Amino acid sequence: MIKLAPSALAVDFTKLGEEIKSADNSGADWHHLDIMDGHFVPNISFGPALVKTIDKISDLYLDVHLMLSNPEKYFEDFKNAGADAITFHIEVHPDPRKHLQTIKNLGIHAGISLNPDAKAEQVIPYLEYCDLVLVMSVFPGFGGQSFIGSSLETIAQCRKYIDEHNLHCLISVDGGVSGENAQKIVNAGADVLVMGSAYYKSNEREKLVESVHSLKRNS
Ligand code: DX5
Ligand code: ZN
Repeated sequence: MIKLAPSALAVDFTKLGEEIKSADNSGADWHHLDIMDGHFVPNISFGPALVKTIDKISDLYLDVHLMLSNPEKYFEDFKNAGADAITFHIEVHPDPRKHLQTIKNLGIHAGISLNPDAKAEQVIPYLEYCDLVLVMSVFPGFGGQSFIGSSLETIAQCRKYIDEHNLHCLISVDGGVSGENAQKIVNAGADVLVMGSAYYKSNEREKLVESVHSLKRNS
């Protein structure tokens, strides 16, 4: 089943608790939590204290996406805050093996992410060490941007390699994902769809989750 991971960056922060609970109650699978440092990306979001708050409110899997220039400095803090998976960028650590192992040694899942202008070849040699690969379909930093079509090719190349080598690595897709483009992203090979604005702006969150859960890859 295709998973839906609402991105908390798009919640109405005046009612954080309600928003997070509503995602849990709508049947969503994960919370995607975007951590930005104002250096690797031009925006600043939130840190471990807010992740810990979300962990107290929610029973869901917490998928922490680190958009940081020195992610390894914070692995332990996010694990202690309740992260179930930590993902960092290949642009920061072109050989990510050591840091993937550090995350796994904390007893949680480890992922790598690549920006839309990176080549699938940059991550493919490391997919065997990953629990997930997060394909960015916008340049990270802000919610609400449009999906960049060339990421479909990156998803497809990762899918091919994962299937041919029988790897357990999930493909998650992040940026400009909505109910409208979900099918083509799944056709390209995604396992997890991250949705910020499309999810939190929807008045029919349960229906959106159901429609994602019912998607099948038609290739
Ligand atoms: C972008 C973040 C995304 C973002 C997605 O820098 O990594 O997770 O929250 O938001 P939408 O779905 O609105 O593009
Ligand atoms: Zn993200």
